[in-house]
Amino acid sequence: MIVAIDGPAGSGKSTIAREVAKCLGLRYLDTGAMYRTVTLIALRAGLVPDRIAETAALAAKSDLRFVDRTNDLTRAFIDGEEVTNTIREREVTKAVSPVSADAGVRELLTARQREEGSKGDVVLEGRDTGTVVFPDADVKIYLVASVEERARRRRAQLLRQGVDQSVEELAADIVARDAYDSGRAIAPLRKADDAVEIDTTGMTIRQVIEQVCGLIQAKRVDGARG
Ligand code: DC
Repeated sequence: MIVAIDGPAGSGKSTIAREVAKCLGLRYLDTGAMYRTVTLIALRAGLVPDRIAETAALAAKSDLRFVDRTNDLTRAFIDGEEVTNTIREREVTKAVSPVSADAGVRELLTARQREEGSKGDVVLEGRDTGTVVFPDADVKIYLVASVEERARRRRAQLLRQGVDQSVEELAADIVARDAYDSGRAIAPLRKADDAVEIDTTGMTIRQVIEQVCGLIQAKRVDGARG
């Protein structure tokens, strides 16, 4: 079974996808962590903003590894070096939209995500997992929430990592990233026609998890009936 959870920055995808995967015994793939890791490679090589087109070739030569954790953010490694926290710093967050709009970068990571999906049951979360990566996913969810709520959640998440950023600054970053991610030519952020949209503003994490797990269970029962 393939479950695709998409939505804008801070809509709750990571938390929901991880928890849903855990409670249903599926693997979990954070595709945003993959784009962030490749962005870090581009930044370190001085390819942002003028030579982004060279990123994919460089990233393809690196050994990228992602390890999901049941209670925390996905761990990321470049050639054995752990970059879990670095990829979530502001410098990477600011550069990730232009880097992830690059055709070569998308081709590289989409192939990798499909490879992961072909290994069996998985919950993927990102921007295009239900539209481009797995257009035939069994369950598609599109999470949204108000900008204010998303900024507050991002702040709480960053504080847990020891990063203190104001809600105003985070809201501005989120609005800019939404515009970039939805406006790009390749694989823009959008709801798949057959995705179920859930507005998580004002909902607790538990409520969203229950709704998503309910949709997946219903699909499983349907599938078992043939
Ligand atoms: O979910 P996140 O904030 O960690 O994602 C970081 C960026 O990566 C996001 O702004 C756009 C890009 N991204 C993408 O283009 N496609 C995906 N499937 C996932 C993320």
